[in-house]
Amino acid sequence: MFGNILGVMKKSDSGVVDVGEKICELAFLRKSYITEYHPFVRLKPITKWVWRGTGGRFSIDFNSEANPHVNISGMSGYGKSTLCKKLVRGIREKLKLPVSIFDVHSEYVDFALELGGKVHSPKESSINMWELDGASPAERISENVTMLKRILKLGDIQAYSLLASAERAYERRGITQAGQGSWCNEPPTMQDVYDCINESMGRGHGRQGYSGLSKRLYPLMRGDVFSAKTTLPFSTILEGLNDFSIAELGSSEAQALFIETFLRKLYTHMLSQKLTHRLRLFAVIDEAHRVCISSPGELSLPGRLVSEGRKYGLGIITSNQMAKSLDRSIIANSAVAFAFYQREPEEHDYITNLIAGGNDYDRRDVVGKAIRNLKQFECIVLTSNEMEPVVVRIMPV
Ligand SMILES: Nc1ncnc2c1ncn2[C@@H]1O[C@H](COP(=O)(O)OP(=O)(O)OP(=O)(O)O)[C@@H](O)[C@H]1O
Ligand SMILES: [Mg+2]
Repeated sequence: MFGNILGVMKKSDSGVVDVGEKICELAFLRKSYITEYHPFVRLKPITKWVWRGTGGRFSIDFNSEANPHVNISGMSGYGKSTLCKKLVRGIREKLKLPVSIFDVHSEYVDFALELGGKVHSPKESSINMWELDGASPAERISENVTMLKRILKLGDIQAYSLLASAERAYERRGITQAGQGSWCNEPPTMQDVYDCINESMGRGHGRQGYSGLSKRLYPLMRGDVFSAKTTLPFSTILEGLNDFSIAELGSSEAQALFIETFLRKLYTHMLSQKLTHRLRLFAVIDEAHRVCISSPGELSLPGRLVSEGRKYGLGIITSNQMAKSLDRSIIANSAVAFAFYQREPEEHDYITNLIAGGNDYDRRDVVGKAIRNLKQFECIVLTSNEMEPVVVRIMPV
């Protein structure tokens, strides 16, 4: 019997990750005060929102939240990356799940090594976005052109020129849409596509589209990251702790392309798996405002994964300085939201609305003031499990 009880306790505790020390929580206060004694006592009720002091630890139970996604936002230097590390450590130690960190400033390297993880740098690893991975050439070309158009902000003519060049690059490898037997040939690389663009430019075909396109793609062609075949196997992401240290890619666009190419492979793998309620894997995207690039008509891939990942056991943790400029889907579908201090007025309003919810003016006012008064390393947390927001102090990892 005791074995059973212990088993149940262990099971229910296995997804709980400690975050920090609880300081206070939002509460609705109902009080009455006497306005008149004579001829009889008159009471006037007062109701207001207050922050009520609490003690104890604050933790997140990933297994019982509505979904396993977390969003962390706040001003630079207030402790977002430190909180990310805390969550990653908890997930590795308690949930024992694989975690991949997309590390745009290469600031998790020591942390990952300390936890026994692997660090991958673009210097040693390349990734080929033109590999078919089970798709047809037409599907792969269409997906890549849409992704590159959105991330590099290409115009319609440039996108069309890219599509034509990609088709030619596949044909040169003997791969055609009609000949399914040819799909297992060695796929073209970004260098092949780039060469086709430059050839068309040299021949004077639609010069404007091709030369602009060539200039936009040029920064990606430095180094081998995108221009060679894949040397960083996707299966890496399915085991242990991995830090993709991509600061040296330089531009946000190149980093976004690296992350999306890798996550797309994960997405394809995910769709081939059975639906599950069990958590399988976490991905962390720090500085998400820089690398989750959406367009008015299309979500970024991390945005899509946040809206669909739960069913396949995938949790996404994003951290950003400006939640307002982040892909809406990420904010809308993260069950856990951490808000650090925010000074920028529009962002402050946005976060206040997000945490306070509804249109109760008093509640909004109290939450807004609390965000203004947060000290460094303190944040307000809203989860799908807690009824009301809680102020938490994060301790270093
Ligand atoms: N709870 C804490 N106690 C003491 N120092 C901390 C704590 N949390 C973070 N720090 C330190 O504060 C500094 C900034 O923290 P961190 O890098 O987590 O901020 P950030 O919000 O991610 O900033 P940015 O947006 O610029 O990346 C770091 O040097 C970190 O070691
Ligand atoms: Mg940071």
